Amino acid sequence: MRSAMAHFSRRTPDDQRPNRLAAARARLGEPELDLTESNPTRCRLPYPEDLLDALADPRGLAYQPEPKGLLEGRAAVARQYLGWGIELEPERIMLTASTSEAYGFLMRLLADPGDRLLVPTPSYPLFDQLARLEAVSLVPYALDVDDGWRPDLGALAAAPEGCRALVVVHPNNPTGSFIAPEDAGRLAELCRARGWALIADEVFLPYPLDGGPGCDRSFAATSVCLTFTLGGLSKSIGLPQLKLGWIAVSGPTEELPAAIARLEYVADAYLSVGTPVALAAPYLLERGLPVQRAIASRCRANLARLRELASTAPAVTVLPAGGGWSAVLRVPSLVDDEELAIHLLEAASVAVHPGYLFEMPGEGYLVVSLLPPEEFFAEGVRRVLAAVDALVGG
Ligand SMILES: Cc1ncc(COP(=O)(O)O)c(C=O)c1O
Repeated sequence: MRSAMAHFSRRTPDDQRPNRLAAARARLGEPELDLTESNPTRCRLPYPEDLLDALADPRGLAYQPEPKGLLEGRAAVARQYLGWGIELEPERIMLTASTSEAYGFLMRLLADPGDRLLVPTPSYPLFDQLARLEAVSLVPYALDVDDGWRPDLGALAAAPEGCRALVVVHPNNPTGSFIAPEDAGRLAELCRARGWALIADEVFLPYPLDGGPGCDRSFAATSVCLTFTLGGLSKSIGLPQLKLGWIAVSGPTEELPAAIARLEYVADAYLSVGTPVALAAPYLLERGLPVQRAIASRCRANLARLRELASTAPAVTVLPAGGGWSAVLRVPSLVDDEELAIHLLEAASVAVHPGYLFEMPGEGYLVVSLLPPEEFFAEGVRRVLAAVDALVGG
């Protein structure tokens, strides 16, 4: 009998080998100081001991399949938007297992295989993987570093046919930049004119740092074009392991019913949100607020320390950080960013992200997480600055 190997789809890459930096990290073992740590549960934050108590609610013993997520959970998420001055009916909220899953659902809702999605660059590196898994192509649009990372509206207006949605990350990861109200208005008009949906990723909106125009506004208020606003517990209260995210649907009244019904059709195939976490959402969102405040003050303290330490390092500049959990450093491009990150691992046992991971516009960018405990963070920064100084001097 003939034999043949099974076929794999192109949704997963042929080459799954780690890149040079990941290989160096595997070879060298865990660094002494990890300035790439983005898992809040590993950052010595004060989680209240009773934070997970509501997961034991006995009502969780009954399975009540509900594609949009249980009403209690959706109502609690809707109440969150009152903080941004927006009244949303729970009908306009859909629970998901994470923001990443929400992206997947929206790609399935809006795009056929081969259709396109406009995404900001530099930005969150997972877009490539998520789009590939849904057989969607990405069309990057630039955020201009010399103009406070504003979106290039000219490039967007010239976007090719076949685009189905425009993604904004507000504030963006890792540049921390918010979409200013004026630009938000123009983007919504453009979406309306071109028949694109708007996907606004606001996972870091509760974390203003330097702030900036738009930092107090949510896209969930958009009425001009069909808009999907994303958030989730992984960032809002630092609990990625609970697997609860959400999509808030807004826009022209006549477009909402079909969008919600079709989104429900997608979610109904998976029913991925656990009953205990959906029931616990009201309690978690309330009881998790001290964690949110602790993360916010950690990020602010680390950013201030970073600026203070960098002020005596002429070769390094800390870029403005509107909001979020990271900071971008401008360093001399003596070697490429990956080379520099490997050098920092080898010579100083500090891990940082090279800018290329986020598709920064050229060499000379490092990204650090602002989450690590203050003393680790400061020591890591000292080592980075000393290593860069030695490279420049030497
Ligand atoms: C901008 C942005 N969106 C979404 C996510 C994913 O969030 P979740 O854990 O809810 O999938 C991240 C994670 O780092 C992120 O940085």
